Amino acid sequence: MISASQNTGDANGVNAALAASTIEIGNRRLATRFFLAPLAGYTQLAFRLTLRRVGGLGLATTDLVLASMLWSERPKSMDLVQTCEEDRPLTVQIFGGETKDLVKAARWLKAHDYEAIDINMGCPMAKVNSSGGGARLMCNVDGAVDMVSRVIEASDLPVTVKMRLGWDSSMITAPELAASLENIGVAAVTVHGRTRSQGFHGAVNREAIRQTVQAVRSMPIVANGDVRTPEDALSMMKDTGCAAVAIGRGAMLDPWIFRRIQSLLHEEAIPFEPSRDEQIDFLVTHFSLMTEQHDDFACLMFRKFAAWYGARLGIPEDLEDRLRRFESFAEFDEIVEQIRRRHGERQCEIPTALIKVPNGPVEHW
Ligand SMILES: Cc1cc2nc3c(=O)[nH]c(=O)nc-3n(C[C@H](O)[C@H](O)[C@H](O)COP(=O)(O)O)c2cc1C
Repeated sequence: MISASQNTGDANGVNAALAASTIEIGNRRLATRFFLAPLAGYTQLAFRLTLRRVGGLGLATTDLVLASMLWSERPKSMDLVQTCEEDRPLTVQIFGGETKDLVKAARWLKAHDYEAIDINMGCPMAKVNSSGGGARLMCNVDGAVDMVSRVIEASDLPVTVKMRLGWDSSMITAPELAASLENIGVAAVTVHGRTRSQGFHGAVNREAIRQTVQAVRSMPIVANGDVRTPEDALSMMKDTGCAAVAIGRGAMLDPWIFRRIQSLLHEEAIPFEPSRDEQIDFLVTHFSLMTEQHDDFACLMFRKFAAWYGARLGIPEDLEDRLRRFESFAEFDEIVEQIRRRHGERQCEIPTALIKVPNGPVEHW
């Protein structure tokens, strides 16, 4: 492997030395420019730790946590912000429509030694938007900036914002909002290149992300949306000029994507490919870390990952079906033993649509 300073080549038209370099956001220097985008219900502590062990991940963010539930220490929120030394660097994402709740949540995070705060301005869900939080905040730039400035004042933690391009195609507010957020000291902005009204449909608008990059002076813009391969990550950098890339569903579909990106950037002689055992070990580690946090309940929680692991690892269908229903640690161990023996019976598929996204008209979400 060659180091970033030696690698001045042009990988896929992107400046490879820059893409392979570290990046500073707030008071943290991050080892890579490739981050995990939050996927509520999936990218929790166990998954993040398993991913970190593979390598290549620059930053992870928790699921979105309702600010009022966080400062009032509701059990579900405490679960969502559970972390440990190995789970660094980590940002906690909060959302809400009331400034006072976000301020209290920021103070709570500071008091409990968290490193950084991300404010969600991208969530399209009605229950989030109706409280005035999520993407709704993008409709009122001045109000959103005021809210974020109070969060910044409330704690000296770095504050970042994750947004969409705007509410709909007639209201693309990301460039203006990002520029205003830079002026008040926001450390970075992540832009999912769709509007709220697009939901998860239609193409990611890289040109609009590029316009957001051009609207700011030096604040890092993290581009997000539909990155599924290392090549997609590099073309996202090239097309938008972004400082970093956040990958959500692509990391579920291929948890080795961050490692593969590093392999590509550093021109490793043999491109990284996880071995059969490494793939099965990923599944085992994920479950075992989940049991550390959730005990027996992990059996239930893990079931939604069965279809994904089934397709990805080529797990025979009868075993995938058992992973969907297993009830005890002993049963899990027995299934894994059979997976190890029968691996390869079924063709490995690259799953594309296993992560459920809300469907139907966005107004009804
Ligand atoms: C199931 C699911 C849960 C999500 N949860 C969050 C969340 O908690 N916070 C957030 O900012 N975005 C959330 N998102 C949006 C993703 O972070 C990301 O912006 C979007 O999926 C596009 O990126 P991708 O194509 O890399 O997944 C979620 C998306 C999905 C599909």
